[in-house]
Amino acid sequence: MSQIHYGHIFHIAGSPAISESPGALVSIPDGALVLDGRGRIAFCGSRTDIPSEYAAAVVHDHRPGYLLPGFVDTHIHFPQTYAGDSYGGGQLLEWLTQCIFPAESRFADPVFAAAAAAEFCDRRIAAGTTAAMVFGSAFPHAQDALFTETQRRGLRIVSGRGIQTVGPDSAGPLLTSEDDAIRLTRAEIDRWHAADTGDVDTALLHVAVVPRFALSVTTETLKNLGDLYDSVRDRGVYMHTHLNENNRPGTGEVDVTKSTYGVQSYLDTYDGRFLPGSAVGGASLLGRRTVLAHAVHCTDAELARMAETGTSISHCPVSQLFLGSGTMPWRRTVASGVNLSAGTDFGGGDEWLIPRVLGDAFKVHISEDGDAGTSLHPAELLFLGTLGGARALDMEHRFGNFDAGKEADFVVVDPARTPALSAALTTGIRSAEPQLARDQTLFALLLGLRESSVAAVYVQGRHLNP
Ligand code: GUN
Ligand code: ZN
Repeated sequence: MSQIHYGHIFHIAGSPAISESPGALVSIPDGALVLDGRGRIAFCGSRTDIPSEYAAAVVHDHRPGYLLPGFVDTHIHFPQTYAGDSYGGGQLLEWLTQCIFPAESRFADPVFAAAAAAEFCDRRIAAGTTAAMVFGSAFPHAQDALFTETQRRGLRIVSGRGIQTVGPDSAGPLLTSEDDAIRLTRAEIDRWHAADTGDVDTALLHVAVVPRFALSVTTETLKNLGDLYDSVRDRGVYMHTHLNENNRPGTGEVDVTKSTYGVQSYLDTYDGRFLPGSAVGGASLLGRRTVLAHAVHCTDAELARMAETGTSISHCPVSQLFLGSGTMPWRRTVASGVNLSAGTDFGGGDEWLIPRVLGDAFKVHISEDGDAGTSLHPAELLFLGTLGGARALDMEHRFGNFDAGKEADFVVVDPARTPALSAALTTGIRSAEPQLARDQTLFALLLGLRESSVAAVYVQGRHLNP
């Protein structure tokens, strides 16, 4: 049965680069989204122009609400569901050792892990996160619970168990042998990759190979993962990890990684060049289904290599503020041509809502020094949280905007549920110039939106139950 949804539509049409997104911004105040019986976009346009063949469709009138593409979170940690706002850690490496490894070890208990999977899906639906790259638990039973619950709720996911073969004492319960690291990862791929439909092109469930970061594995693990990944690339398996997050001189993640491996750049460890002097030791893990979180402190050569291989960055400014990781240089990163998307990095970040990440992206990049500082256009923010995420997950052809034929993932925003948002939208200052007024409205919407404003969430045209 076809459906029609009325509301003020915003989306980034077509397939622009992020810098082209202002020109691709579509705003339809009296909009209609028409879905065919298979949950795909049949029409996106003005309410007065709905094709007559849909006259019998079921109408959902969300006015004066807004319709946005579903939010895509390209970096979020399932085993940190209860670890947001962990105090007592400090910056990255100390926080991991003191707060996060103990928190993630609790997922050894299957009952605890199953409860966390339900909570994690609740939080995703509340935040309108229709698709996510989810950094998984070390424990296979916890990953089984996550995939099972995600499928039951009708959400999209790419996830894989977090692989660790070395670490401090507090990481003990999360570590496996080298052989088990590969065996368990392969078993997860075989069990869950496209398990819902049997076809990666239609599936909601996907698996990734997820070494926690270079410091959690060894040259042997990286060599074996390269072989494994090469053997499953043609099945559409993903790769996900962290890169260049904390650059505290000498003792931070970047310096410790470079000195531990003896490599010239951090990225080399994921690019097959993990032997001393960045000599080649195995296959590269980079590619168009690879998403690297943070990438705050990259060299130009690292950015160029990511762009060349189609690797995407998950930009996580909420987390970078919380962990004191610094600010990704926006202009230099965009100029490299690498694809950018947005990640909450919950619990490194303490927000579940992608628009909160977009708001902090605006604030940190306008605060960059001198000529590096930039006032991001609201269309660039919307791109980052929707179409850029779909591109990072290599599923831009399936969702991320309201182009005809795509699967209908969308969020209904009802400002009346959030008085401050409602007031800003109805009473905020607007330019007499229509295009600037449009941009001002989108900006107020993205920055003022809260979980309370999310009235309904749809994936493939199916309404998800909170
Ligand atoms: N680097 C390695 N593990 C983690 C993690 O759990 N969170 C963040 N933010 N960075 C990491
Ligand atoms: Zn992370």
